[in-house]
Amino acid sequence: MSLQRSGGFQLPPLALYIHIPWCVRKCPYCDFNSHAAGPSLPEEEYVDALLADLDADLRHVHGRTLSSIFFGGGTPSLFSARALGRLLEGVERRVGFAGDIEITLEANPGTFEQAKFRDYRRLGINRLSIGVQSFQEAKLKALGRIHDGNEAVRAADMARAAGFDNFNLDLMHGLPEQSIEDALFDLRTAIAQGPTHLSWYQLTMEPNTVFWSQPPALPEDDLLWDIQEAGQALLAEQGYAQYEVSAYAQAGQAARHNLNYWTFGDFLGIGAGAHAKLSSPAGQIARSWKTRLPKDYLDPAKTFQAGERLLTADELPFEFLMNALRLTEGVPASLFTARTGLPLAQLDGARREAEARKLLLADPTRLVATREGQLFLNDLLQHFLP
Ligand SMILES: C[S@@+](CC[C@H](N)C(=O)[O-])C[C@H]1O[C@@H](n2cnc3c(N)ncnc32)[C@H](O)[C@@H]1O
Ligand code: SF4
Repeated sequence: MSLQRSGGFQLPPLALYIHIPWCVRKCPYCDFNSHAAGPSLPEEEYVDALLADLDADLRHVHGRTLSSIFFGGGTPSLFSARALGRLLEGVERRVGFAGDIEITLEANPGTFEQAKFRDYRRLGINRLSIGVQSFQEAKLKALGRIHDGNEAVRAADMARAAGFDNFNLDLMHGLPEQSIEDALFDLRTAIAQGPTHLSWYQLTMEPNTVFWSQPPALPEDDLLWDIQEAGQALLAEQGYAQYEVSAYAQAGQAARHNLNYWTFGDFLGIGAGAHAKLSSPAGQIARSWKTRLPKDYLDPAKTFQAGERLLTADELPFEFLMNALRLTEGVPASLFTARTGLPLAQLDGARREAEARKLLLADPTRLVATREGQLFLNDLLQHFLP
């Protein structure tokens, strides 16, 4: 299909992703841009580089303030509060913060103690995302994690004691030799810590990981299905509503930073390998990415930006919907034009086909997948390919 741009485009909200690319050691299932840290981290040098990287991106701000910031990794909790404080101050001096800004930091059990969490809180970081994965020793061992189940519980205790009333726990399921009871034990233990948000990911085998070349024995499809059903029922019963493929939250506690991705908002990305999606006031939309290896990113002879691609009008429906249709409630149909500048009528043919296959809900006011469409999201998205 060949698409025409129209009026109706509005400059979306702006978020900032900051990548910290080091971990204590590399986990065998992980394909994120993370690298085993040496004996000392080049914190100050990296903060200088992040701020210089941001300086080069300021032309994309167009007067907006930041609605959210996310420190992701790697393991951002390896960084001292002093370094993160200097970074946040530098960011705020360059781009204003919205009054109700959400600032999240990913923290790994075993990489911080109580005082560090208190200091993070004082910096204005108001949300933690703690990477627990499982509370069971055998599972944590199989995943190559550096922490045990008790440390994970202590991490949640420390978060609350440091004043983080808003925190997420990351769990994975479909783990080697996992039973339904094992998965429910993890969820029950997590819920007992009182997180406002739970991310519950199914373990996937990613190329370029140790698990890809030496795959562990994983639960069969039938068992995976049963784990998913039983877990979703437990989460719903405990007040955690699913609002995205892997995200569950107490009322009003959906992650604003992630919601911005899924509603096709703009985001700056600074740090090694960080990605960005940015719009111009005229409605041009581009994706870009930064130099991936930390040593190259820190090399003054190299540029921060490694690549950029302008999205064509033909690609925009798919790009918009692969995000929006992840949301359980979908999005208002009018958001399509506001974010892409394309008339909604241009989706009509594909919408009708997907509705006929019962993958998309036949609701003229919303773009939302049916339960079937959520389960077979790739099939649904095929209808909107350029
Ligand atoms: C950026 S990662 C890592 C955050 C943090 N460094 C940690 O390991 O706890 C965010 C989350 O993605 C999930 N994840 C990473 N690799 C995965 C995989 N292969 N399959 C499913 N989930 C994965 C984990 O739950 C992890 O906490
Ligand atoms: S899963 Fe987390 S801790 Fe493990 S290597 Fe990936 S980013 Fe690092």
